[in-house]
Amino acid sequence: MNVSLQGKQAIVTGGGKGIGFAICQGLLAAGFEVVLAARSLSQAKAAIERLPSPEKARPIEIDVTNDTSIQEAAAALRQQVHSLDVLINNAGVYPDEGVNILTISRDLLDLTMNTNAFGPIQVVQAFLPLLEKAPSARIVNVSSGYGALDGLSADVPSYCLSKLTLNGATIMLAKALQPQGISVFAMCPGWVRTDMGGASAPRSPEQGADTAIWLATEASPSLSGKFFRDRKEISY
Ligand SMILES: NC(=O)c1ccc[n+]([C@@H]2O[C@H](COP(=O)([O-])OP(=O)(O)OC[C@H]3O[C@@H](n4cnc5c(N)ncnc54)[C@H](OP(=O)(O)O)[C@@H]3O)[C@@H](O)[C@H]2O)c1
Repeated sequence: MNVSLQGKQAIVTGGGKGIGFAICQGLLAAGFEVVLAARSLSQAKAAIERLPSPEKARPIEIDVTNDTSIQEAAAALRQQVHSLDVLINNAGVYPDEGVNILTISRDLLDLTMNTNAFGPIQVVQAFLPLLEKAPSARIVNVSSGYGALDGLSADVPSYCLSKLTLNGATIMLAKALQPQGISVFAMCPGWVRTDMGGASAPRSPEQGADTAIWLATEASPSLSGKFFRDRKEISY
């Protein structure tokens, strides 16, 4: 536990399972109080019951594709906390099985772009008033090597485009929020054993969460706008 982080507030989207849940666990262990956001309140409450210190976590409902859901969550949280030190945009989908860039439908592109890229932008906008009240808030966008220019794959079309867009949004948000002293980072967790990554992935959710937790706690704010894996900068 880091004494200087004690009592700080963090919110994690898609916090009910996988890497998001491991990020919640890591932030709690570091001393944060955590707002665990899941697509439904019952999912968020059930996940909190599985945490080692459930009394330090608050459940909240956020569907990142639904602006009303995002706005209602931000309004509810403004009644509960004074400020927000960390926002982790973790929620994501990977629905590209069986399609490629020559066959993917507009509907599938819409779903993935809305969830993985436009969702995080709207979540930042909605929670900005709370982030601005913290002394030096941090935003971490959970991206992927599939969003790097040399990672783009014709067989993973909507996911790659969505993470490429999320990376671009990270650069733009970092520039836009520099005057307020808010840092914005993108990170790749590696290939992780979750419902998304599958059982053969080499990394545990805790290993996948490590760089996000480091960016939320220890990384220098001078690194804002950059992309990381294994606590090291990587190329966009
Ligand atoms: N696993 C990997 O190998 C890997 C590699 C690179 C990057 N990533 C990234 O890491 C992040 C977490 O992935 P994961 O592996 O932990 O996947 P996961 O186990 O499938 O978890 C994804 C989380 O996102 C939530 N989510 C999906 N759509 C949402 C929406 N519209 N609104 C709110 N929440 C939503 C899911 O909620 P529901 O349970 O309600 O669906 C779930 O909590 C994602 O951004 C992913 O792209 C993962």
